[in-house]
Amino acid sequence: MPEHSTADRAWALDQLRRLFAATNLMIPGSSFEVVGHGSRAEALRRAFRRFGALPAADSPRFRFAVDDAGAASAVVGGSPIELSGRRRGASDRIAWAFDFMPVTTSAVDRLADSGLPRGRRIGISMVLEPKTAVLALALHRAGAAVTVFAHPDETDDAVAAALRELGVPVFASRRATPAEHRALALAFLDDRPEILVDDGAHLIRLAHEERPALVEELLGAAEETTSGVRALRVMAAQGILRTPVIAVNDARSKTSFDNRYGTGFSCVFAILNLVGVPLPASTTLVIGYGPVGEGVAHYLRAADIEVVVSELDPVRALAARFDGFRVAETADAVRTAGLVISATGVEGTVPAELLAHCADGAVVAVAGGVPDEVGVERAIREGARLVRVSDGVERLSFDDGHSVTILGGAGAVNITAGEGNPIDIMDLSFAAQVAAIAQLLEAPARLPVGIHTISAREDSAVAAVALGWPVANGAASDSESAEWRTTRFTREPEADG
Ligand SMILES: NC(=O)c1ccc[n+]([C@@H]2O[C@H](COP(=O)([O-])OP(=O)(O)OC[C@H]3O[C@@H](n4cnc5c(N)ncnc54)[C@H](O)[C@@H]3O)[C@@H](O)[C@H]2O)c1
Repeated sequence: MPEHSTADRAWALDQLRRLFAATNLMIPGSSFEVVGHGSRAEALRRAFRRFGALPAADSPRFRFAVDDAGAASAVVGGSPIELSGRRRGASDRIAWAFDFMPVTTSAVDRLADSGLPRGRRIGISMVLEPKTAVLALALHRAGAAVTVFAHPDETDDAVAAALRELGVPVFASRRATPAEHRALALAFLDDRPEILVDDGAHLIRLAHEERPALVEELLGAAEETTSGVRALRVMAAQGILRTPVIAVNDARSKTSFDNRYGTGFSCVFAILNLVGVPLPASTTLVIGYGPVGEGVAHYLRAADIEVVVSELDPVRALAARFDGFRVAETADAVRTAGLVISATGVEGTVPAELLAHCADGAVVAVAGGVPDEVGVERAIREGARLVRVSDGVERLSFDDGHSVTILGGAGAVNITAGEGNPIDIMDLSFAAQVAAIAQLLEAPARLPVGIHTISAREDSAVAAVALGWPVANGAASDSESAEWRTTRFTREPEADG
């Protein structure tokens, strides 16, 4: 077996970066074949395996050929893939995503068979890219009256135009000013959705503040994210929440895959896309070791990058240590880390004063994604200067002459500087969203106001369909009728006579 060098490893990682940029498909959990000899081919096999892909000669999802000169070509699901980074048109990208979202589309088909979505108004507030377009179009084709809203930073105008052309009204524009953005959000609410599918609970909260009458009429909402569910729980505890909400985020089929695998993987690859391979960083600090931080840390390690973790919660900090990561205080670790990634989803995680203490030239990125998770705006108000370097890359310079590089506008880097979570991950999350929509539509009366979850049975069914198992095999056992008696103390049979 040929030896591979550091240069071969960097080349192999760059091939995976190009592959993900071209396809938006998950490499972990996929099958691959690398045809060819030599050290590059061997380094590529190693890279696939380190990222959790499985070798398979029989119809692998990814087939690479590496020729004797070390040049690579890739075929995905029978189609040759351009690894040059050229972006395809919106309709092509939506059609591509459709092909890799069988779990969502089959869930919508099952719902359509019930006839329940016909004519129902469903408002979707999500990052507007091809996967969201697939969800919107599938529900639209099932007969629902679907509308879509998105934040300007999270809007792909070409995808918005493609959706409008296919008959789905879209309230979003990449160029919207803050005032226009707010007006679009209110216009979206004034279209009176019966079900609100939200991401970050921004529209649910806006509706409570600005359109209380609509909230009373809502059949319910479904919330996609950890930070959104967190805010809704506070509202419920304070008696402010006025609608049933399904916490889709809390479904196992969502959090176990979206936050850990999908966000971890897509954030690491969005960062590689922006700063290049190999990363200039010596050590990376990952702040927060929830599912997102855990995923980010694992995929950085798969890319041969040393990781240090900082965490406030001792239980999660201990988990990081058992996973083999050094645990440190944020304030200490930022002084030497070449790359700093906030994975907390908590405002003020890297405040302006901490940015000023980062190592000169450090790269700072966000995997969580709440406003002011990294204090760039306050640093600017206090005199730092922000200059654009290239798309998604800015330099923040301080008076003492040192500077840090900010990626993706300090928003969730996989979203602001990439195409979000991989297609096959959103396929699971959106199938869980469809289960939530079904739960709201199927209930004989409006569900009680409060936070609900999708049923364990529906949750398991999402993963079962993804595995190609019959849905019944994935159904959770019915714990209420399960046997509870212990078998440890079985009585000896009574002796006869
Ligand atoms: N970028 C994306 O596509 C994407 C996808 C899913 C979730 N998210 C977001 O990512 C964020 C994290 O998600 P999660 O599921 O891991 O959340 P989580 O709440 O389970 O984990 C966050 C962790 O950060 C720790 N933490 C909080 N503040 C800290 C600080 N100042 N220093 C160190 N540690 C700190 C917490 O103790 C917690 O363990 C959420 O806001 C979520 O909405 C982003």
